[in-house]
Amino acid sequence: MHFQKLTVVALSGLAMAHPGSHEHSSYSIASKRSFLRNARRSLDLCANHLEKRGINERARARRAAMAEANKKRAVLARDLDEVVNTSHHSSLNVTPNTPESELFSANPTCILAPEGEVGPFWVKSELIRSDIRDGEPGVPLILDGQFIDIETCEPVQDLYWDVWSCNATGVYSGVQSDMNGNGNDKSNLNKTFSRGIQKTDEDGVAQFYTLFPGHYSGRATHIHIIAHTQAHVLPNNTLTGGTISHIGQMFFDQDLITKVEATSPYNQNTVAITKNADDHVVKVETQNSDSDPFFEYALLGDTVEDGIFGWITLGVNVSASHDSDASYAATLTANGGVSNSDSQGGF
Ligand SMILES: *[C@@H]1O[C@H](CO)[C@@H](O)[C@H](O)[C@H]1NC(C)=O
Ligand SMILES: *[C@@H]1O[C@H](CO)[C@@H](O)[C@H](O)[C@H]1NC(C)=O
Ligand SMILES: *[C@@H]1O[C@H](CO)[C@@H](O)[C@H](O)[C@H]1NC(C)=O
Ligand SMILES: *[C@@H]1O[C@H](CO)[C@@H](O)[C@H](O)[C@H]1NC(C)=O
Ligand SMILES: *[C@@H]1O[C@H](CO)[C@@H](O)[C@H](O)[C@H]1NC(C)=O
Repeated sequence: MHFQKLTVVALSGLAMAHPGSHEHSSYSIASKRSFLRNARRSLDLCANHLEKRGINERARARRAAMAEANKKRAVLARDLDEVVNTSHHSSLNVTPNTPESELFSANPTCILAPEGEVGPFWVKSELIRSDIRDGEPGVPLILDGQFIDIETCEPVQDLYWDVWSCNATGVYSGVQSDMNGNGNDKSNLNKTFSRGIQKTDEDGVAQFYTLFPGHYSGRATHIHIIAHTQAHVLPNNTLTGGTISHIGQMFFDQDLITKVEATSPYNQNTVAITKNADDHVVKVETQNSDSDPFFEYALLGDTVEDGIFGWITLGVNVSASHDSDASYAATLTANGGVSNSDSQGGF
């Protein structure tokens, strides 16, 4: 098992503005920078408070238990394969030798996710559910996110964490667009893979079972997030109302991406890979700040194909509203996905 601390990306020049200037929206770079500086300071000040309240300790224990439980599941599945294929193979060597207590002993990095760009592919009113794989192929990815209020240093309970990302070959579900795979594929509007919403618990934590995203033209591998506060749940398990307190994008270490992209079906994607160092959103979310919008991760088995456990702590300003920045490509309804005719993201 392998634990990797984030590397600081050296940014080389501004990347071409992938899918359009729309992503830059009305939220100015100057105000982002000032948010980054303030919020990072707030999170640093929060560290002692979180430690005293036992919140960091519980986060470490939870993440270790989660990794352990899922590692066993991954190992079991492989043991079965081994028994079927080679009956004399010892299963001992599949146990990773590094104990979790060591892996997770480091302080959780209080990572500030700055306000980022919503991008052109958000689908509104997705289902509240933890397993968002919908049977798509790819490398299993467990996400564990913890949300901390940067004004009070307290975990944000009952926050709804909305995530979306593309599939192994770089296409988002729920969106019909020439910028998103086959623009004539109307059936994609009804698909919901790699999209979902989860509510945070008393420690400000929520988790997803998803798939490691692939890549598409002009962007580094990323996962989008929106944090909804004060939203209400409808009987059909979707959200209504509330405020969007945070919009951002999360990233992965380049060497991890390289390993995943070497596996099938990721390696069927012939679109050139854009590296973190060349991605304009990585740049905006990290420049002039200590912000680190990268998932920390551990492998759940010996190779990435056994699964990846990724976690991140996000500072959120729950007094803020970013509703006007949250343009959407479509809405999931009882009649399936419906394109948003007002979408400015149709490029
Ligand atoms: C077991 O055999 C199947 C079918 O040939 C193969 O797909 C799978 O990768 C094998 N598993 C192992 C652990 O070798
Ligand atoms: C990704 O999604 C698109 C659109 O739904 C689909 O055509 C494609 O087959 C998917 N990729 C994989 C690897 O399943
Ligand atoms: C949080 O957002 C509110 C409303 O926009 C703002 O007044 C306040 O300064 C922000 N707090 C921090 C720490 O950025
Ligand atoms: C859920 O219910 C709302 C309110 O009735 C409705 O507008 C929406 O289309 C429904 N969504 C789904 C996915 O069924
Ligand atoms: C999408 O799903 C709805 C409701 O299940 C169905 O009526 C509609 O025909 C589907 N659309 C496509 C393009 O498959």
